[in-house]
Amino acid sequence: MKDITMIIGANGQLGTEISAALRELTGADTVICTDLAAPTAALTEKGPYLQLDVTNANILAEAVSKYKVTHIYHLAALLSASGEKNPDLAWKVNMEGTLNVLNLARENKQIKQIYFPSSIAVFGPNTPIENTPQFSANDPTTMYGITKYTGELLCAYYNAKFGVDVRSLRYPGIISWKTPPGGGTTDYAVDTYHHAVNNEPYTCFLKKDTFLPMMYMPDAIKATFQLMNAPEDTLSTRLAYNLTAISFSPEEQAASIKKYMPDFQISYEPDFRQAIADSWPNSIDDSLARADWGWKPDFDLDAMSRDMLDNLSKLKHHENNLEAVNS
Ligand code: SER
Repeated sequence: MKDITMIIGANGQLGTEISAALRELTGADTVICTDLAAPTAALTEKGPYLQLDVTNANILAEAVSKYKVTHIYHLAALLSASGEKNPDLAWKVNMEGTLNVLNLARENKQIKQIYFPSSIAVFGPNTPIENTPQFSANDPTTMYGITKYTGELLCAYYNAKFGVDVRSLRYPGIISWKTPPGGGTTDYAVDTYHHAVNNEPYTCFLKKDTFLPMMYMPDAIKATFQLMNAPEDTLSTRLAYNLTAISFSPEEQAASIKKYMPDFQISYEPDFRQAIADSWPNSIDDSLARADWGWKPDFDLDAMSRDMLDNLSKLKHHENNLEAVNS
């Protein structure tokens, strides 16, 4: 039987790039993209696309049977800042969605593998803040973090009890240029680059010396596929793996941007997201991922800044040209 992958939350920051990368590797027809949004020509021309709400278990089960899905990337979730604005909805989407996917994998043996993204948000004030170990106090203070850690525990439970092959990573903040992130605390680190290429000053919602673990999208995709392709017997945990590439503060990132765009200006007006950032690690120890399945990132801060600014500038010129043609 051919492997068919369903991406849930395919229009999000991660979903857009994971689905494109998988389609490149295995063919457009082998990847079924799903999201809450109604289909558009731009979505369906790239390959199969379904409008789907992951909190609806019946619709999800029907789609999985119809398309003979063997692998699911369950990427739909409310992130930390959106979750604090609407904790009830964050619980509903993040928990019901995850349970629906896990129950489906338990019952439907055609499903071979599940991917569940976790986050640095599973850590809290009692976690060591520097080089946070893989196994540590998990006392998240956000609804997002609570749902991600509960999700991790469910993944480990469904693996041990029902043999579901579910794998997970604790992503740091992910930085990318193709699709914007939405509703996260680490989003500032993407906004900075957009402002820089538009020659606009940026007002950061975190203090200048707030360190957080971060990663460039190509590294996030590489780590995800490496984990999903690792032989089962190399995985020593079924909780999510700690994962990191770079740790920096807004001030350090601004200095990196200024190497390429010397006129970039940044100022700081911390809001409610500062407390979220303060409850998360400054840096992460991901030695278990390195030891178990050979994780090693490619991008440091300056390499990422160069690539982000380059790609966003090209995108801006392309959009300007389109506008000029259409006007
Ligand atoms: N990027 C996420 C957020 O800021 C953390 O996983 O909510």
